[in-house]
Amino acid sequence: MSASPGSNKFAAVTGATGAIGNAIAAQLASQGYHVVLITRNPEKSSQAVSEIKKSTGNNNVHFEIADLSKRISIQSLAASWTGPLHILVNNAAISPPNRMETTEGIELQFATNVLGYFWMTEFFSPILIDSSPARVVNVASYWAGGLDLEDLEFKIRSYHNHDSYRQSKQANRMLTSIFSQNLVHSDVTVNACHPGDVNSSLSNSLGFGGSQSPDEGAKTPVWLAASKSVQNITGKYFEHQNETHCPYGSDLLKAQQLYEICQSYT
Ligand SMILES: NC(=O)c1ccc[n+]([C@@H]2O[C@H](COP(=O)([O-])OP(=O)(O)OC[C@H]3O[C@@H](n4cnc5c(N)ncnc54)[C@H](OP(=O)(O)O)[C@@H]3O)[C@@H](O)[C@H]2O)c1
Repeated sequence: MSASPGSNKFAAVTGATGAIGNAIAAQLASQGYHVVLITRNPEKSSQAVSEIKKSTGNNNVHFEIADLSKRISIQSLAASWTGPLHILVNNAAISPPNRMETTEGIELQFATNVLGYFWMTEFFSPILIDSSPARVVNVASYWAGGLDLEDLEFKIRSYHNHDSYRQSKQANRMLTSIFSQNLVHSDVTVNACHPGDVNSSLSNSLGFGGSQSPDEGAKTPVWLAASKSVQNITGKYFEHQNETHCPYGSDLLKAQQLYEICQSYT
């Protein structure tokens, strides 16, 4: 294990009990990273950890519980984090068919898919900076758009899970640009990607299956997280391991406005 690329390096993967997140965690574990699955269900997490340990032979795999739709939960997770963090993969997402709210009254898909990524990056930034060089990978999607800064929570528009989902994936790509700028002098890169079309709870809740395997879906996120070839690239969006122009990430004024709105959720 000592000669492997991830030796003595720590990676955290959110949504690692899901299809793509689990494959990302396993691929990083197979490269020797110490991998922490950030999850919400202890039973599923324990099983996922055992399976990854078994399939990769890497025993440095653990889980930490957090509800990623809640600021306080992410803040507590970061506050209790001991040791370094070299890779953060923001991946957890949902798309409930009906509009739901967190106990704090935030539309659930916006809270999980957008604020979850935002708070993870904000609260873990000091740890990533201390551990640098470090990387943040935001698992987004090519299926993105329709973001309305005036109605991020679908209080005015009628809710449809496709619309809220596409908006959230646009937001992931916009916030990637702002975080990459904020962290540019800290040797922490921040990039976004489309993983692939994978059959999962999420894709089924959106009404499509997905023909790629979770391992294929994990390929681009893992490449962004661990490949030397992208170590100095930041603020970009990738599909199939190719940098792809992102109109959302390029609109820095709108992205900054979104960032400031996310900051206002205290
Ligand atoms: N599948 C595709 O075709 C596709 C295409 C483009 C982009 N993506 C992106 O890929 C990422 C992964 O998607 P997937 O298809 O692998 O989804 P998935 O299998 O449904 O997994 C979603 C994961 O997020 C976790 N999660 C949801 N809400 C959470 C919360 N409040 N706190 C903590 N964890 C929470 C789930 O935990 P539980 O296991 O406890 O439910 C699960 O581990 C998403 O960002 C998605 O937008 C997927």
